[in-house]
Amino acid sequence: MAYLKIDNLRKNFGGVVAVDDVSFTVEKGTLVGIIGPNGSGKTTTVNLLTGFLKPSSGSIFFDGKEITGMKASHITNLGIGRTFQMVKPFYRLPAFRNLVVPLFSPRVKKMGGHYGEKDSVALDILEDIGFERDSAVPFKVASILPHGYLKRLEMGRVIALQSELIVFDELYSGLTLAEVASLSPMIEKLVDEGKTIIMVEHRLKELFKIANKVIVLDQGKKIAEGEPKNIMKDPEVKKAYLGVELKQ
Ligand SMILES: Nc1ncnc2c1ncn2[C@@H]1O[C@H](COP(=O)(O)OP(=O)(O)OP(=O)(O)O)[C@@H](O)[C@H]1O
Ligand SMILES: [Mg+2]
Repeated sequence: MAYLKIDNLRKNFGGVVAVDDVSFTVEKGTLVGIIGPNGSGKTTTVNLLTGFLKPSSGSIFFDGKEITGMKASHITNLGIGRTFQMVKPFYRLPAFRNLVVPLFSPRVKKMGGHYGEKDSVALDILEDIGFERDSAVPFKVASILPHGYLKRLEMGRVIALQSELIVFDELYSGLTLAEVASLSPMIEKLVDEGKTIIMVEHRLKELFKIANKVIVLDQGKKIAEGEPKNIMKDPEVKKAYLGVELKQ
């Protein structure tokens, strides 16, 4: 059985079908991209998968277990972590303390904790994701950090949580090309370490460089699935993106 198996997943909001019988699988240790025009159901799919919303119908299996309709905290505990399209740091805490919070989570406790004292574990993780350790940056309150650092902080949170399947919802949005170029190797490193990654992205060129497979949503439906090098040649995909300005 696939590591993640989504079957006929559906979510209605009143008359709006945000996710319309979507099915796909994700194999362990791969990086899968989810793309599609604005409003195509990407974030709703992420919310269903991570327990932030309950599906109207369909099922989700993760690592051999059915997780359909489970609470977000329970799903986090099982090893699925996510970041938010709109960053959600603890604004009044210093950057490193933002990572100390997940270090106290039931998920980390269940995994046997991290080796070392929590403040230094948090600083180590921040260093891995590009917070200069000898600078003042890790000690600054999140509210004054530039957007690029807040995106990294989101990434640090799921690393601290020891999530096995990580879902990034538009991690690259609002970042400069140089920032994206520095984040991509970090994501590839997570895959090399055995993590499984789902990336919802509008930055297609950058995503296609690192994804193994891409799923395309349009108006809630999956319209295509395939290798990055072929996906934009699909006539349905071309039609969905017609008139949409492709970023890079
Ligand atoms: N809580 C909600 N209540 C009502 N409608 C919603 C809700 N959340 C999403 N929708 C609708 O569902 C559809 C899919 O939205 P979703 O946010 O999943 O799109 P998306 O692909 O993530 O878009 P974007 O690329 O702009 O982030 C849209 O029509 C949206 O307006
Ligand atoms: Mg979205």
